Amino acid sequence: MRHLLDTRTLRREDAIRILDVAEDMADTQSREVKKLPTLRGKTVVNLFFEDSTRTRISFEAAAKRLSADVINFAAKGSSVSKGESLQDTAQTLQAMGADAVVIRHGASGAPRTLATSGWIEAGVVNAGDGTHEHPTQALLDAFTMRKRRYGADSRGRDLSGFGVTIVGDILHSRVARSNVWLLHTLGADVTLVAPPTLLPQDTSAWPVTVRYDLDQAIADEPDALMMLRIQLERMNAAYFPSEREYSRRWGLDARRLASLPEGSIVMHPGPMNRGLEISAEAADSPRSTVLEQVKAGVSVRMAVLYLLLTGQNTSTTEEER
Ligand code: CP
Repeated sequence: MRHLLDTRTLRREDAIRILDVAEDMADTQSREVKKLPTLRGKTVVNLFFEDSTRTRISFEAAAKRLSADVINFAAKGSSVSKGESLQDTAQTLQAMGADAVVIRHGASGAPRTLATSGWIEAGVVNAGDGTHEHPTQALLDAFTMRKRRYGADSRGRDLSGFGVTIVGDILHSRVARSNVWLLHTLGADVTLVAPPTLLPQDTSAWPVTVRYDLDQAIADEPDALMMLRIQLERMNAAYFPSEREYSRRWGLDARRLASLPEGSIVMHPGPMNRGLEISAEAADSPRSTVLEQVKAGVSVRMAVLYLLLTGQNTSTTEEER
C-alpha cells in the first residue's frame, strides 16, 4: 500500500486485509506485547492542520507501538501562521526524514494533493480532510462492527446484511462519507437519517436509503446506530434547526435507546455533544461502543502504518498501486 486516501476506491480485499492485520495487532496488544520492532528506523510525521484528540494520539500510539519514530506537527504555533504553504511545510518534514505523513487538513483533497504532487516521497494517510473523507475512522468503525458480529471469528469476514443507520449532520461529515463507501463495499445495508437541510445534494447517487424520521428508522431494527456530531463550527444558523428541536427529533435519548432491538449497538466517532445528538444515558450505556471504537483505532492505525511502511500489496487505487 502506497497511500490511504479514501475508502471510496478501497477494494474489498484490501479493506478485509487491513481489518485482519488490525486483528493481529489487537491480539498482540491483548497479550501485553506492548511494542513490536516492525517499524524500527522509520519516521512517521503527524501533520495536523485541524484539531484532533483521538486520531492524532492513536496514530502516535500506533507508530510508537511499532517502534517507529514520531514527529508531531500542529499548524497552530508553527510557521503556517506566518503563511508557509502546504508544499513548503511538507518538504521541510520530508527533509527531516519522514517515511509516512499522516495529514488532517480543513481542505477536502489536501491529502491527495500531497500524495500525487511529487512534493514528497513519503506515503500519505488521510486523517480527515474537510468534508471529504476520514478513512481510518470508517475502518475502525467496521472493525468494531465486525468484532461485535463475529467475535473472535472475525478474520476474512465482511459485513454482509449488517444494517447500519447513520444519524445526524451528514452534510459536514467526512466520517459519514467514508463509512458509506466502506460499509457498501463490505456488504452492509446503510440508512442515513437527517433533517433535509443536513443532507448533501448528491445522496441520490450514494448506495444508501435516506430517511428523515429517526423513530421510523429505529423501527427497522438496525444492527448499529451511528450518531454523528453536530458540527456547530461548520454550521450556518440559517439551515440548522434549534438545538432543542434537533435533540427532540434526531437525538438519541433514553426513550429511543430503550426502543432499540436487543443486540444493536450505539456508535459515535467522537467528540460527542452530550445532550444534543446523544444523551448521557445512551453514550454511557452497555450498548455504547464509543470507547471500543477508540481502542480499535490504535489497532487499525497500526495495521495501516504497517502495510504502508512495509510495502505490503494493498492499495487504494490503480494509479497508487
Ligand atoms: N473521531 C475523530 O476523528 O476524533 P478526533 O477529531 O478527536 O480525532
